[in-house]
Amino acid sequence: MQNFNFYNPTEIFFGENQIAEITKAIPKNAKVIVIYGGGSIKNNGIYEQVSLALSDFSWGEFSGIEPNPTYQTCMQAVSKIKQEGYDFILAVGGGSVIDGSKFIAAAANFVGEPWDILSKGAEVTSALPIGVVLTLPATGSESNSFSVVSNSETQDKLPFASVEVQPKFAVLDPQVMKTLPQRQLTNGVVDAFVHTMEQYLTYSVDAKVQDRFAEGLLMTLMEEGPKLISEDVDYKVRANVMWSATMALNGLIGAGVPQDWTTHMIGHEITAVYGLDHAQTLAVILPRVMAEQQALKRDKLLQYAERVLGLDITDEDSAISSAIARTEQFFQSVNMKTRLSDYGIGEDAVDKITHQLERHGMTALGEQQAVTLDKSSKIIRASL
Ligand code: NZQ
Ligand code: ZN
Repeated sequence: MQNFNFYNPTEIFFGENQIAEITKAIPKNAKVIVIYGGGSIKNNGIYEQVSLALSDFSWGEFSGIEPNPTYQTCMQAVSKIKQEGYDFILAVGGGSVIDGSKFIAAAANFVGEPWDILSKGAEVTSALPIGVVLTLPATGSESNSFSVVSNSETQDKLPFASVEVQPKFAVLDPQVMKTLPQRQLTNGVVDAFVHTMEQYLTYSVDAKVQDRFAEGLLMTLMEEGPKLISEDVDYKVRANVMWSATMALNGLIGAGVPQDWTTHMIGHEITAVYGLDHAQTLAVILPRVMAEQQALKRDKLLQYAERVLGLDITDEDSAISSAIARTEQFFQSVNMKTRLSDYGIGEDAVDKITHQLERHGMTALGEQQAVTLDKSSKIIRASL
C-alpha cells in the first residue's frame, strides 16, 4: 500500500427525515445562502423542509445552477454573496449544485480571477463553509473536496480540488430519491460504479481493505441498481444505493492505491462538446478503457472477474472478455446506453475529443500514465 493522508471531515446525517438536522449543524449566527438548481426541490417538498429548518436563521437563496454547472452562473451567485454578505452556503441538490456551490465558495474569497482556479490550477486558500442537502446520489460530491465546472463560452469542463471546499456536513435522506426521473437514477448508479472501478481496476498494491470495500460497493450497485429502476424499489434499495454512491468517492477506497481517471477525463470532454449527461459518457468509455488497457490491468481484471462477477478464471483470456462484456451488460440492465452512436455521435468525435484532451494537457492518463493521445483516440473510436 502506498503512503496516504486520509482526512474526511464531512459529518453525515443519514436516514429518513434528517433534513431537520441542519438546524443544529449550521452555526447559529450564520447568514445562510441556499443554493439550488432548476427548481425540482420546489415540487418535492425538499424546499419546504429546508425552509422550516432555517426558520430561525437569516437566509436568502440563489437558484438556477444548471446540470454541468457553468462558471457564468456561479459568478452571478458570487456577486449576490458579496452584495448581501452571506457567510454560509447550503447547497440543496445533486452533484451540479454541490460542485457549483464549491466553486462559488472558493471564488467568493479568491483574490484575482476565479477562472484561474479551474484553468490554471490556482490554489484555493480559503472558502466559505458549505453544508449539503443531497437530492441525487451519484457523484459523491457531498463528501469530497472535488468540483467540476464548465465554461459555456469556451467548451471547457474542468475540475479543481481543495480541502477548503469539502462540505462541513451532508444530509442523506433516501426519501428524496422518490421524485428522481429514471434517467437520473440510472446516471447515479453508473457514476458511482465507475468511480469505484477507477480506483480499483489498476494494479495491485496489496491494499486488501480498499480492494474488498471496492468489491462490496460494486456488488451492491450491481445487485440494487436494477431494482432501483424497477417496480421493486423501496426504502432499503434507495438507502443502499445512496450510501454506496457516497462511499464510492469520499476518499476511503482511493486511499493509498493507484487510480485511473481516464474514463472521467475523456467523459468530461464528451459532455463539454456534445452535452451528454456525465454518467452517459462513462458507460460509453469505461468498457473500451478496460479492453484497451487489459494488458496493464490483467491481474485486477481477473480479480474483478472472480470476486465481483463470480466467473471461473481458469481460462484467463476468456474470463477477461466476459468481465468486460458483463460490465457493459450491467450498464444496459439499468437502461444505460453504451455507444456514442446511440446518441447520434459519429466518426468526427474521435478528432474533436482527442483535440480537447490535448488542449487540456490530458496526454498521459491512467495509473501508469500510459494512455497517450493515440490510445485515447483508439478508445473513443472503439466507443462509436
Ligand atoms: O436542477 P434541479 O431542479 O435540481 O434538477 C436536477 C437536474 O435536472 C435533477 N434532480 C436532482 N435531484 C432531484 C432531481 N429531480 C427530481 N428529484 C430530485 N430529488 O436531476 C438533474 C441532474 O442533476 P445533476 O446535479 O446535474 O446530476 P449529478 O448529481 O449526476 O451531477 C452531475 C455533475 O457532477 C459532476 C459531473 O461532471 C456533473 O457536472 N461530478 C462531480 C464529481 C465530484 N464533485 O466529486 C465527480 C463526478 O465524477 C462528476 O464529474
Ligand atoms: Zn463521475
